[in-house]
Amino acid sequence: MSQDQLPEHRQRLIWTAERAFGLKDTIANRRRTAEVAQAATGNRPADDVARPAPKMVESVVDTALFGAIDDGAGAGDAFTEAPFDSPVMATEEKRKHLAVMNQTEVKDCAKCGLSRTRTHTVFGEGDVDAQIFFIGEGPGETEDQTGRPFVGRAGQLLDKMIAGMGLRREQVFIGNIVKCRPPDNRVPAPDEVETCTPYLVRQLEIIRPKVIVTLGLPSTQYMLRTRLPMKQLRGRWQDWRGIRLMPTYHPAFVLRSYTPENRRAVWDDLKKVLAELGVGETGRG
Ligand code: URA
Ligand code: SF4
Repeated sequence: MSQDQLPEHRQRLIWTAERAFGLKDTIANRRRTAEVAQAATGNRPADDVARPAPKMVESVVDTALFGAIDDGAGAGDAFTEAPFDSPVMATEEKRKHLAVMNQTEVKDCAKCGLSRTRTHTVFGEGDVDAQIFFIGEGPGETEDQTGRPFVGRAGQLLDKMIAGMGLRREQVFIGNIVKCRPPDNRVPAPDEVETCTPYLVRQLEIIRPKVIVTLGLPSTQYMLRTRLPMKQLRGRWQDWRGIRLMPTYHPAFVLRSYTPENRRAVWDDLKKVLAELGVGETGRG
């Protein structure tokens, strides 16, 4: 794409992305468009017209692993595979539920051993009506100090990835599979993940994103119950309880291994997310 096309292209991308990402005024517009389309076609429900048709996904669930985890930690309903059947909450109600969960359960949580070494829990943050929910691994040092997700070096790269999608950080939701920093940034242990993730599942149930993007192996493995390596998982659509899920590389991995191939891979994955949300081809790549 030539340089002189950029401003118009960018503007169009941001406008389309904002619409796709559920900014309040534009959601109403989209509904109206869908209703008009429905009236014209006569038989498809409005939601169907507005959303792209589901595409086939190739399951990567490792049933042995799934069985082992499900039997183990008493995770209960959090790990059933059925789509959420509770009604989607209104924006204010979502905010209230999330705030109450944070204040009364997460903020001072001592359910697992990570509580002993953390400074702050990191609940997650972003738009409660976000269409994209990014899931990382766990807080690092800066996140532990500030109580905010992805604010260190990896966070700066995540911000760039989000900006590349024509979005701002405040328009998506960002969380992790564990809410407390594992000592020395080690990978969270299976029991810590099993203890903490019911919080994440409830956040997902409240926010009800259209797309989940898992960043790196631990969150991808947890969500998909798979033992496949990231190389085989990234870039391929999966389904998580009826929500589309795109695994991609963790920004910390991309920083460690800053090759054109890895950066291209992440960007390709994010473009698929944009296409899924109706933003379409972005003109790059
Ligand atoms: N890495 C993560 O996985 N999550 C954070 O919040 C920060 C760094
Ligand atoms: Fe509680 Fe999760 Fe922190 Fe463990 S990691 S103490 S379960 S908030």
